[in-house]
Formats: sequence, structure tokens, C-alpha cells
Amino acid sequence: MIKKGIILAGGIGSRMSPLTKAVNKHLLPIYDKPVFFYPLSVLMLSGIKDILIVVNKGEQHQFKKILPNGKNLGIKITYLEQKNPNGLPDAFLIGEKFIGNENIALILGDNFFYAQSLTKKLRECVKLNKGAAVILHPVKNPSSYGIATVNKKNKIIKIVEKPKKTFSNLAVTGLYFFDNRVVNYSKKLKPSKRNELEIVDLINKYKSNNKLTAHFLGRGGAWLDTGSIKDFYNTSAFVSAIENRQGLKIACLEEIALNNKWINKKNIEMAIKFYGKCNYSQYLSTLTKKSFK
Ligand code: DAU
Repeated sequence: MIKKGIILAGGIGSRMSPLTKAVNKHLLPIYDKPVFFYPLSVLMLSGIKDILIVVNKGEQHQFKKILPNGKNLGIKITYLEQKNPNGLPDAFLIGEKFIGNENIALILGDNFFYAQSLTKKLRECVKLNKGAAVILHPVKNPSSYGIATVNKKNKIIKIVEKPKKTFSNLAVTGLYFFDNRVVNYSKKLKPSKRNELEIVDLINKYKSNNKLTAHFLGRGGAWLDTGSIKDFYNTSAFVSAIENRQGLKIACLEEIALNNKWINKKNIEMAIKFYGKCNYSQYLSTLTKKSFK
């Protein structure tokens, strides 16, 4: 069972410059919320309450202005800093103490998931006791991602980071589930040609032990990332379209916490005071009254 999660919210966001010169990419807006609310909502939907957010050096105070320690959501947030963007497995070296003897979920701070029965799927993934699990989803431009092929039993046969010659349209999304061996495996990794520790090298360690499972969002699901300006606007447009059509918010953290029974209506009232007069607060106020789905 996985009870702890890490959000990786560092990096330099070079593809988003000049927007990211003064502000961490994960604090920029996707429609009506900061980027990092979306991956945080995914961990919360998984039932994970103990969360480490890895940020760049000197940036903790900015995140803490929005989310000081998680108490307001009935969860525990710890912040730690990454000195340099050394690659995704650095999360497990920075988070070694936080992880302790537990298994761990990792989500990239710029990843967005929206799918039918997402909560049910996530709750399956966090049941992991041994090995590792990844979520695959088809993309049009596989060479921009880690990509994989699977056999009939959904076991991954091959997985490669951003290959020039593609062999599959299945991208490895930025949500990973690992058993506790991930810390020791990360310690043994060597930087790649681009001088980063590679998540795919880590995943391959599990593959060679035959302990790697693939999950799928399904064709109706949306997996978007916010790596470039274009992706940012596409994701914002997606959130705007869904929210304005349904009148329901994607990644409203207080709503998820309330549904999980981690907080009560008093906490919602406190959140409304904290955010002030805005559309988000207006939505929160409907949660204290709502009796329809
Ligand atoms: O989005 C899924 C893809 O994410 C996977 O398919 C790839 O296998 C995986 O390597 C990764 O590729 P990206 O090129 O998208 O990774 P990027 O360097 O953009 O970083 C992803 C997130 O992690 C982003 O939110 C910044 C953060 N990050 C990244 C690095 C390298 C850190 O916080 N620290 C880091 O050292």
C-alpha cells in the first residue's frame, strides 16, 4: 500500500521563459488555479495524505503562501529544496528521510490527468506492495516522452526516454508508483548523456526484475502536460471548457478533502476567508450548501 507521495515542482522551466524567469512554473496558472494544484489533487484522490513537495532553492516561501502545511486540507505537506535540476530520480534522494521504510508515489508537478473513474484507477495503483507501476497513454508525438511497449498481459517489454526513432505511441505519464527499493536503486543511477538521472533507467531496474506493471487511463481520459507555452494554453482551455460546461471544478483541493472526509464545512468557510472574494471562493461556498452531484 502506498501512503506517501512526492510532487516534483523544481526545474528551470526553460521552455517557458521569460514567464519562468521570476516565477516557478508550477505557480503559474492553468486557467483558475496554480499548476501544482492539479498533481496535488491527483495524489489526494489516490487517498495519499502525507506529501513532499520538492521545489527549487529559495522558493519554499512562495509555495507556502498558498499552501503552508496542508492542515487546511487535512493533509501533511513537507517542502524540501532541490539544489540543481539533476533529474527526476533526484526526488528519491532528496526525499530519502521522508520516504523512510514506505512505498512511494511520484507525480511530476506539471502533469494533468482527467478521466472517467480516475479515482478508482488511482486507488488500484496505490495498492502496490512490491515492484513498480506506471501509467501509459497514447500521444501523437511520442519522441517527446519516455515511451513503452507492452505485451498481452500488460507487462512492459521495452521502455526508452525520448527516442529519435519511435517504436510505440504509448507515453509514460508523469505518475509513478514504486516500492521502497526505489531509494537504493536511485543511489546506483549514473547521469545520462544530458547529465541527468533518468526516470526510465530507474523504471528499467524494475523491468529487469519482472516487477513492472502498466496501467492505462483509457481512450476517454486526458493526460496533458504543461511543458511548453502551447501546452499551457491547451490545458487551460480544456479546464475552462469542462468547468464552465459542468459548473464543477477540476482540482478543487478543498472539495476533494471534503469528499474524503478529511475536513469539514468549517474548514471550507476558513478557506473562503483565506482566498477572499473570487470565483474559487464562490465555488467553495456552494460546497457548504450543495445537495446535488
Ligand atoms: O511528462 C511525462 C514525461 O516527463 C515522461 O514521459 C518522461 O519519461 C520524463 O522524463 C519527463 O520528461 P520531461 O521532459 O517532461 O521532464 P522535465 O525535465 O520537463 O520535468 C518534468 C517535471 O519535473 C517538471 O514539472 C519539472 C520537474 N523537475 C524536472 C527535473 C529534471 C524537477 O523538479 N527537477 C528536475 O531535476
